[in-house]
Amino acid sequence: MQKLSIQGGNQLRGEVRISGAKNAALPIMCASLLTPETLRLTNLPDLHDVGTMRKLLQQMGVSADSVPGEVTFKGDKVDNWEAPYDMVKTMRAAILVLGPLVARFGDARVSLPGGCAIGSRPVDLHIKGLQAMGAEITIEHGYIHAKAKRLKGARIFFDIVSVTGTENLMMAAVLADGVTLLENAAREPEVVDLADCLRSMGAKISGDGSDTITITGVEKLHGATHRIMPDRIESGTFLVAAAATGGCITLRETRADILETVLEKLGEAGAKIRVEGDSIHLEMNRRPKSVNVRTAPHPAFPTDMQAQFMALNCIAEGSAMVVETIFENRFMHVQELRRLGAHIDVEGNTSVVRGVDHLEGATVMATDLRASACLVIAGLVAQGETVIDRIYHLDRGYERIESKLSELGANICRVK
Ligand code: UD1
Repeated sequence: MQKLSIQGGNQLRGEVRISGAKNAALPIMCASLLTPETLRLTNLPDLHDVGTMRKLLQQMGVSADSVPGEVTFKGDKVDNWEAPYDMVKTMRAAILVLGPLVARFGDARVSLPGGCAIGSRPVDLHIKGLQAMGAEITIEHGYIHAKAKRLKGARIFFDIVSVTGTENLMMAAVLADGVTLLENAAREPEVVDLADCLRSMGAKISGDGSDTITITGVEKLHGATHRIMPDRIESGTFLVAAAATGGCITLRETRADILETVLEKLGEAGAKIRVEGDSIHLEMNRRPKSVNVRTAPHPAFPTDMQAQFMALNCIAEGSAMVVETIFENRFMHVQELRRLGAHIDVEGNTSVVRGVDHLEGATVMATDLRASACLVIAGLVAQGETVIDRIYHLDRGYERIESKLSELGANICRVK
């Protein structure tokens, strides 16, 4: 099993290019199931999850051809409507094939995802939404089996804001008969990127980016070319890493408008931030100040940045409260940070972090994707060597992380 070894203490300095967003790429790849014509995607990140999704689509009969910088998907020979357990258990986003498959083929068998390191993460809202659109759903042998002649437009209210739930039902509704209204929908920028792609394929969608999305179904969609938006979580992770190490970095090919709360919190921590076009420049000339964080659906503070800010707070001046309101078990990194010398108390969904002068390197274990990123940041500031075990989590969501960090001056390498 591969590990990362980090010698802490170097400040991050220089420029880094931000990759395409994992959480936009995965649903948009599934949109290739909605048409027999060609969907050409550029700026797809080279990530483990993107590879898994590509394999899943290929198993279903979608062809995927790459040339540098782009992948062309073609769903004219789809003859297998099943997402098997082996794939769904390694990547929950595989649930996103459900909506497109029922919408275009009237039949889908998708494994139930099961539990997850950060919470129970049910998919009941995806299922209820499809039922409201007329799909007949049975759960058998651990699989969701959905059938429908043609889905019908419906008014669907989400009890809880769900990102992939919104995306799945949006993809189901584009080919349905009539108008679908998604209420209390997710407003995440990745939902908007998917809507942009679907519109360029001929879908009729409005209101994406707000909490009410209206979709008027069409008979069929056509091919299109779409550029995946930049990854706001990768952007935020590099910015926090630079702030924690007292560094000075410039992110290229990103967007400040999708990072508002994160930039605000970094400003509160004492970072100087300048935005120029698609670049963000951050400079940190002092010990960071502690910042309180409360996660909630977009446009509030993203849960996918909670762990990284926890690492920053560990070495900050003062104490801070970190409240997680989206997932019930997303503090797995706390135990590992304590092994590096952090002072953190946890009560329910609230952590109180008391900043210490320094962390000390140790061997730690990554438990999920963003927890891994938090441990990398902690390792970059800790004195001595930090070894992070189980970094396959990191490879699911960060493209070339150790080479990007090395180029910024970090002393980091992968060991077998
Ligand atoms: C997506 C992101 C993930 C991010 C999360 C929250 C992708 C591929 N993943 O995950 O990185 O951390 O949004 O921003 O985009 N829920 C239900 N029933 C459902 C669906 C969700 O109860 O049917 C609950 C979940 O358990 C959770 C909350 O709703 O407590 C939000 O989850 P959701 O937005 O669906 O997360 P994902 O879409 O899985």
